[in-house]
Amino acid sequence: MADKKIIAVLGSTGSQGGGLVRAIQADPSGGFAARAVTRDTSKDKAKALASAGVQVVKADLDDVESLKKAFAGAHGVYAVTNFWEHFSGEKEKAQAKNVADAAKAAGIKHVVWSTLEDIRQFMKPDDKRMPMLQEKYRVPHFDAKAEANASFSGLPTTFLVTSFYWDNLYMFGLAPKKGDDGNLAWTFPMGTAKMAGIAAEDIGKVAYGIFKGGSQYVGKTVGIMGEALTIEQMGQTLSKVLGVGPIKYNAVEADVYRSFGFPGADEMGNMFQVYRDFETEVLGARSAETARALNPDLQTFDQFIAKNKSKIPT
Ligand SMILES: NC(=O)c1ccc[n+]([C@@H]2O[C@H](COP(=O)([O-])OP(=O)(O)OC[C@H]3O[C@@H](n4cnc5c(N)ncnc54)[C@H](OP(=O)(O)O)[C@@H]3O)[C@@H](O)[C@H]2O)c1
Repeated sequence: MADKKIIAVLGSTGSQGGGLVRAIQADPSGGFAARAVTRDTSKDKAKALASAGVQVVKADLDDVESLKKAFAGAHGVYAVTNFWEHFSGEKEKAQAKNVADAAKAAGIKHVVWSTLEDIRQFMKPDDKRMPMLQEKYRVPHFDAKAEANASFSGLPTTFLVTSFYWDNLYMFGLAPKKGDDGNLAWTFPMGTAKMAGIAAEDIGKVAYGIFKGGSQYVGKTVGIMGEALTIEQMGQTLSKVLGVGPIKYNAVEADVYRSFGFPGADEMGNMFQVYRDFETEVLGARSAETARALNPDLQTFDQFIAKNKSKIPT
């Protein structure tokens, strides 16, 4: 441990950070050790990490002093914020600034910041295609992360642009549902556009590849995906791998999706509309080849569904 480079991993009990911790643990001769950061070292996921031999420390994204302590002596920091816990772009930016400030104070040699692009670059402020949210964002969890990139200036940072998790099928309740006719159907405002998706676990594995690659990735933006697929294509794979009947795709307008009323429906409606209306830009910012070079185990959608089919309700 003493001769290993420590990576302080935020979100270590979650999808992205958890994937990174597992990737580091799976490569004991790789020269890195994970330091898992959590707000609650007594929670089951934190205790499981400790049992697996990972150093687990307590810190809070809202408390810069706690982050400084968590980062002390570390080589690297994996920086991820969780928009979906508070739904606030302003809070996400403040948390990212705390991470950057603490990383500067701790003299961190390599930060990998999990970010997304600023959707406002694609539309003028008076563009009426989709509403502004929280007064100034098109897709707050994208735009706020992009704005937070500035907080990392002066730090040796890699800007990791991630993609839609396929895990949302079971984690966010986005799997097809049985209608009154007994047939499976799902609803998205995606038209015939392809969506860049990825297995959440693969984001952490890519991040590990970036830390291993070291200085060549500092100052670089690395956009990743597992695969880009239309909703029809995803439905065909689900139907084939899960052994269920055809999945009907209700391609609704984004306004309809935004009106569904579940928490974050407006945000998700805007996000899917961006994937649809700015398909070229969004896909152009992400590469499966880059992701596979950094993580040779990168999963395709078929492979992901085959591996996780027991979790997907049908
Ligand atoms: N879902 C998608 O398709 C998708 C795609 C791209 C990007 N993203 C982005 O991914 C981010 C979430 O990452 P994830 O999915 O890996 O998270 P997750 O699985 O939901 O887990 C959240 C993690 O964040 C940590 N956390 C939350 N608030 C914290 C705080 N105040 N202080 C310290 N740690 C805190 C939690 O740690 P403890 O609870 O242990 O403290 C936990 O480990 C979001 O910002 C989202 O926009 C999501």
